[in-house]
Amino acid sequence: MDVTSITHDSQWLHVTFTDGEVGKFYVQWLRDNVPSGRHLERGQRTFDINSLPEHKLSEISHVADQITITFDPDKHIDTFNTAWLYSHKDSFAPQSNPKPILWNCNEQSHLVFANYQTLKNSKKDLHTWLCHIRDYGYGLLENVPTEPETVLRVVELFGYVRNTNYGKLFEVRAESDPANLAFTKLGIGMHTDNPYRDPVPGLQLLHCLVNESDGGDNQLVDGFAVAEKIRQKNPKAFSLLATQPVQFRYLDKDSADLEATSPLIETNSDGEVTALRYNSRSAQTFTFSHEIMADYYDAYRLLGELLHEPEARIEFRLTPGQLMIFDNQRVLHGRSSYEEGTRHLQGCYADKDSLHSLIRVLEAQQ
Ligand code: OGA
Ligand code: ZN
Repeated sequence: MDVTSITHDSQWLHVTFTDGEVGKFYVQWLRDNVPSGRHLERGQRTFDINSLPEHKLSEISHVADQITITFDPDKHIDTFNTAWLYSHKDSFAPQSNPKPILWNCNEQSHLVFANYQTLKNSKKDLHTWLCHIRDYGYGLLENVPTEPETVLRVVELFGYVRNTNYGKLFEVRAESDPANLAFTKLGIGMHTDNPYRDPVPGLQLLHCLVNESDGGDNQLVDGFAVAEKIRQKNPKAFSLLATQPVQFRYLDKDSADLEATSPLIETNSDGEVTALRYNSRSAQTFTFSHEIMADYYDAYRLLGELLHEPEARIEFRLTPGQLMIFDNQRVLHGRSSYEEGTRHLQGCYADKDSLHSLIRVLEAQQ
């Protein structure tokens, strides 16, 4: 990008580009981002701004697509590329994941089980599958060997298992003395797992080893879509859910007393929904003031109702060798009850960051 004029005072550099756009760059921002201050390959900054004096702009020269700046007081010289300055003018957006694609029961007609054996050997197919998980918050896989612990191998496709006090993996099957609803034949309402952890596990995988049951279907619901529906229908309810803290706890006498506190809907500084926690089993007694209590219960019930609406969810039966993975901070899961027959899943948790990282690495290789 060519430049038609450059002016400056001691604090600000003004660059007018040939398309008429003007970039205004602050001296400390320039000094903080000098190209020579970054590792060539890794892009890591090699200094801290506090180790530098408060610089002033001294001299500017411009040759071809390079603008060279001399900074006072130490006469540090660095050169900026005009295309780089152009791409960083005004409020440029740093690299980030695409926006989530929200879904409801219509997603049922798009359910696709990717083939594990294919993904192991095809970066292209792996990339497609990982992008689906990133954008829709869930992914499905088949042809996963029913050898116990294979769920841990599946995580190796993109990252690392998140170990917890439950171990690397957990078993989901009916037990004679169940410590948890998951280990019974009862249905389980929509929930996120482990809201009592900080941080909450970002991804959950469930791998079906045996399913001879007469029920036990899995259900997934897009919590982000439900949260947006509440924001539209009832902004006051949304605001309560997004601001009032709820405590979650898991107690296992001798080994664990896990506790975390958060609003059920988490948002970022732009107001976008970033995470949900919903788990009636581990939610602690609400401690809201009398002014809030009644309205909060209305909002809490509305959230529960919409999460369980058949129109919101997808539903499928995992058969041996099939696996589902979902964003445990976005997509809530549940299962229908069963009466008869063995059903055995193995599950584990993983973090989202390595999945997102591999998508970028694969894209850079294309
Ligand atoms: C769980 C769970 C669902 C299932 O173990 O957290 O929700 O399909 N299980 O049994
Ligand atoms: Zn669960």
